[in-house]
Amino acid sequence: MPNKIIFNSQYPIITESEDLYLRSEGLIPAHTQTMAKGPSQYVNGISPKFIKRGRGAHVWDVDNNEYLDYNMAIGPISLGYAYPKTDNAIIAQLKDGITFSMMHPLEVEVAEMLREIIPNAESVRYSKSGADVTSAAIRVARAYTGKNKILCCGYHGWHDWYVSTIARNAGIPQAVKDLTFTFNYNDIDSVRRSIDDDTAAIILEPVVFDEPKNNFLHELAAFCKEKNILLIFDEMWTGFRMALGGAQEYFGITPDLATYSKAIANGMPLAILTGKKEIMNLFDTDVFFFNTFGGEALSLAAAKATIEEMKEKDVINYIHSKGSILIEGIKKIIYNLDIDYIEVKGYPFRSLINFKESAGDPLLQKSFVQQEMFKRGILWSGFHNISFSHTDMDIEYTLSVYEEILPMLKNVIVNNELASSIKGIPVQPVFRKTSDFNTKPVTK
Ligand SMILES: Cc1ncc(COP(=O)(O)O)c(C=O)c1O
Repeated sequence: MPNKIIFNSQYPIITESEDLYLRSEGLIPAHTQTMAKGPSQYVNGISPKFIKRGRGAHVWDVDNNEYLDYNMAIGPISLGYAYPKTDNAIIAQLKDGITFSMMHPLEVEVAEMLREIIPNAESVRYSKSGADVTSAAIRVARAYTGKNKILCCGYHGWHDWYVSTIARNAGIPQAVKDLTFTFNYNDIDSVRRSIDDDTAAIILEPVVFDEPKNNFLHELAAFCKEKNILLIFDEMWTGFRMALGGAQEYFGITPDLATYSKAIANGMPLAILTGKKEIMNLFDTDVFFFNTFGGEALSLAAAKATIEEMKEKDVINYIHSKGSILIEGIKKIIYNLDIDYIEVKGYPFRSLINFKESAGDPLLQKSFVQQEMFKRGILWSGFHNISFSHTDMDIEYTLSVYEEILPMLKNVIVNNELASSIKGIPVQPVFRKTSDFNTKPVTK
């Protein structure tokens, strides 16, 4: 096998992974810094837990098993692991220094590049994580509008204003919890129901896996304008993948503010807030948003090289074409199996296998598919985050694996053997939820 994926006929040997896991027990609470990378999202006992290197779209775990990766570090790896152009830019910058006592020219150079490609980027600020920039967007929106409440949909990071809306919200004061509310994607009435005169901003991922219906995004933009509410697009996933300028370019909507991270620097930690000058100007004087590493140069050098490569090689089209082949291939397999409990959703740059409850617990179905994917050398947790390094051969191989595994899933479901076929602790739920959680301000 040219890509060396088929490395065994059994589940991977994960001795080193399990050893590190035990060493972290009681030392690193929750074991992980990123929930989606942690043991709860993989069949525990079967899946590896620690990855030590990557190249292209492939990674190697600490036991030296090779996998074709469809998570791509939960989004950041847009070009590929150890991608020469970005790595060389990082190495060149490293020789000059990482971070300095004054501003670095790359802060200006990259901002100029972003102004060219992101429709609302009249002004640009940097930081280190997605949560930093969504929180900065919320703060400046409150300052600009003089209002306090926020309406959101989906996941926006670990900070208080957002996490107050989820079940795992210990440690957040009630006064903060009383200011953020939720609406259902594609349901403009749920937006109408959840605002009041004190709503400062509506923040959402322009798309997750469902397409906007009935002109939802345009209606939302018009509604925000009418009510003097700022519209914030959280483009962590859509940015530099759906289009170079993200969903705002793709859908032709210019939000007041937008946040980016993940794919922008091919793995280096960089987050970006873009927005209209009139609003962003508040960062000049009134609104405080500063931190030590915001202008760190290695990440900016990586971002510059990543954007150049994306433009030069038409990476967006490449990702679109490979992702489309994968989606169409999976659809065909599902169709031929004549099953209605699995569907493939989303966009070519990021698609998802959705398991429905009609065939039993979706997490058990996902766990079954995941363990069989690992056995065949594919690192999978339900998604396909396509990068510039996923080759035709990778996609072809993946489809051949689906062709093998989905009938096995059908078989265990038909024979009522789903739960007993899972060889470790099944995947646990995540809290990401974008529908049926509409909460509203209490009318006084
Ligand atoms: C849509 C969205 N917004 C915000 C965030 C938070 O980003 P970070 O984890 O870098 O703080 C994430 C993280 O996955 C995300 O998916």
